Amino acid sequence: MASVTSLSDSVHQRLAAALSAALPQAGSADPLLRRSDRADFQANGILALAKKEKANPRELAAQVVSGVESGELIKDVEVSGPGFLNVTLTDRAITQNLAARYADDTGRLGVPHAQQPGTTVIDYAQPNVAKEMHVGHLRSAVIGDAMVQLLEFTGENVVRRHHIGDWGTQFGMLIQYLEEHPHELDHGDGENLQASGEQAMSNLDRLYKAARKFFDSDEEFKTRARRRVVDLQAGDPQTLATWQKFVDESKIYFFSVFEKLDMDIRDEDIVGESGYNDMLAETCRLLEESGVAVRSEGALCVFFDDIKGPDGNPVPLIVQKSDGGYGYAATDLSAIRDRVFAIKANTLLYVVDARQSLHFKMVFETARRAGWLNDDVEAVQLAFGTVLGKDGKPFKTREGETVRLVDLLDEAIDRASAVVREKAQDLSEAEIAERGTQVGVGAVKYADLSTSANRDYKFDLDQMVSLNGDTSVYLQYAYARIQSILRKAGASRPAAHPELELHEAERALGLHADSFAATVAEAAAEYAPHKLAAYLYQLASLYTTFYDKCPVLKAETQEQIENRLFFCDITARTLHQGMSLLGIRTPERL
Ligand code: ARG
Repeated sequence: MASVTSLSDSVHQRLAAALSAALPQAGSADPLLRRSDRADFQANGILALAKKEKANPRELAAQVVSGVESGELIKDVEVSGPGFLNVTLTDRAITQNLAARYADDTGRLGVPHAQQPGTTVIDYAQPNVAKEMHVGHLRSAVIGDAMVQLLEFTGENVVRRHHIGDWGTQFGMLIQYLEEHPHELDHGDGENLQASGEQAMSNLDRLYKAARKFFDSDEEFKTRARRRVVDLQAGDPQTLATWQKFVDESKIYFFSVFEKLDMDIRDEDIVGESGYNDMLAETCRLLEESGVAVRSEGALCVFFDDIKGPDGNPVPLIVQKSDGGYGYAATDLSAIRDRVFAIKANTLLYVVDARQSLHFKMVFETARRAGWLNDDVEAVQLAFGTVLGKDGKPFKTREGETVRLVDLLDEAIDRASAVVREKAQDLSEAEIAERGTQVGVGAVKYADLSTSANRDYKFDLDQMVSLNGDTSVYLQYAYARIQSILRKAGASRPAAHPELELHEAERALGLHADSFAATVAEAAAEYAPHKLAAYLYQLASLYTTFYDKCPVLKAETQEQIENRLFFCDITARTLHQGMSLLGIRTPERL
């Protein structure tokens, strides 16, 4: 068994047992154990419990104390204040716990798998065909990827879905133009994905602008373009083949951006809006027959008591337009049926901009009324806020245009490379370029993941690549510094020495390392990757204190040196594992 019971779980069990022995009528009561500044842990649950059971809190606390055995695990437990408990652990228990995590040869640091994993479909990284990716798509990709990693790490079965915008009336114009100018998408094979990605996007952009010009100025073209929409929806093979060219060209571009983001996106997980075309009519029929949707002025609508427009009139969710066309809602409702009934998911997670919250609120409520979602299958929008510029307004270029994701990543990589170059001691040019990319992309991801997703955040490259403060660069340097110490010591797997007394800074670091499993579980369950980011930042800070206070290579005895190297290594492994769950690299040398 590679999984390790955490210190706080062990202490919790002992206190809970003593508590129910002291107060049998309370059943399995929670002692509410928390990390504390005064001791290692504090139990805060006794006060409220005593009140509820009309007992004297200090007496109850004293009874619990006498029921807890001190020994291998607990060094000291005492009553404090009106009925709190302060718990101090033995040094030996702390070191032994870390040693057990260190010995886990699966690389999971003793983190247990979920007892009853379910299936979660994560809808994330969903750019739109024939369009440039922007910062909003960055957030969905970065947060979604972290959630995929986090949930898979806990043992959840994760199905990824990239719900790309690959359908709609806008394609009529593009297809018609390409039919009339058939060589516009031809291009020589690019040398690499990056180059061909840029080429693909510039082709699409040029084509879009040209088609738009015709559409706006040429009435006959406009008519032909509108007819194309009908052909597309009717599934005319020639029209579909041309449409497919746009999708393929766009995928070349998407994949190049995802590669730059150091993100593993698989073609088979791209199921765009068009993937649900065959289900749309039936979705509407089911909703209409069950009375969930009703015809209103020819359109098929779902109404909600609490959703009204500025004029006070109810705003419906339109499932089918009066001209028979289907839109975004019909597609999302069909996707829900697919994910619930074909994929058999228990949870549907949507990593989508908060500005689409009303849409999802209505879609989820509709699906609930239809019985597709219920107590056993829930849908959640992990809604993220807007990316702001330094001025606090939505991020735009100086010309007022939306910022291209690629430009932004390139700039981050440039800045990061400058930082790496300045600090580099023994790195070659090639290494500087590679690390610059890892640090730059990491900086962008970390900035996104370190604030709670629903908040807006400022895109500030100076802050993002700063070596001081809550940045990925700080964490990456902490990791690289540890590696350099381990290299210097020539220690491949330093041994733990549980018999040694620990310094305050070692205890703090050790106890924090112990709570990695709990943090991962919490971040996964609450869809809150920022909790993992905060944890890692604190780990690096505690390490810095440890390193200041406790000489490692110059420690007094050989055992002491080894034990401290062991503390260094477990910290590094925890940093590495945690950062990789956030999709961020930890270079061995910086
Ligand atoms: N393509 C959409 C956009 O760029 C996001 C899709 C979100 N997912 C969904 N199932 N509606 O805004």
